Amino acid sequence: MQALQPFVLIAPNGQPAGYADLQPNGYIDHFFIAPSYARIGAGKQLMQYLQQLAKQRGLKEINADVSLNAQPFFMNSGFVLVRQQQPVIRGVVLANAHMRQSLKPSLK
Ligand SMILES: CC(C)(COP(=O)(O)OP(=O)(O)OC[C@H]1O[C@@H](n2cnc3c(N)ncnc32)[C@H](O)[C@@H]1OP(=O)(O)O)[C@@H](O)C(=O)NCCC(=O)NCCS
Repeated sequence: MQALQPFVLIAPNGQPAGYADLQPNGYIDHFFIAPSYARIGAGKQLMQYLQQLAKQRGLKEINADVSLNAQPFFMNSGFVLVRQQQPVIRGVVLANAHMRQSLKPSLK
C-alpha cells in the first residue's frame, strides 16, 4: 500500500474515513470508504479530488477495475463500463468491471 502512495480522506472528527490512490498512468488501484462513512458523500469528495489531480497531471483518462458493489458509485462519478471481467485471485473468481472516464484538460 505504501508503494501506491494513497490519499487519506480525514473526517471532521479527525478519523480516517477512506483512502484511494491515483497511479501515474491514471489507474486507480484502491478506492475505499469505511462503512461507517458510507452514503454521505465521502466517496464523491475523494473521487473529485482524484479527478482534479488527474487533470492537473495532464492525464487524458482515469480507469479502474471496479467491484460489482462499487459500479453504481463509479457510474455516478462519470465512469463508463469498458468490460465485465472475472479474474481469479488465489483460486476465487472475483467478478469486477473495467471502467474508464475521459478527462478534459485543466488550466489549474
Ligand atoms: C463504493 C464506495 C466507494 C462508495 O462510497 P460512498 O462514500 O458510500 O459514496 P457516496 O456517498 O459519495 O455516493 C455518491 C453516489 O454514488 C452512488 N452510490 C454510492 N454507493 C452506492 C451503492 N452501494 N449503490 C448504488 N449507488 C451508490 C449514489 O448515486 C450516491 O449518491 P446518493 O447517495 O446521493 O444516491 C464505498 O461504498 C466503498 O468503499 N465500498 C467498499 C469498497 C469498494 O467496493 N471499493 C471499490 C473498489 S474498486
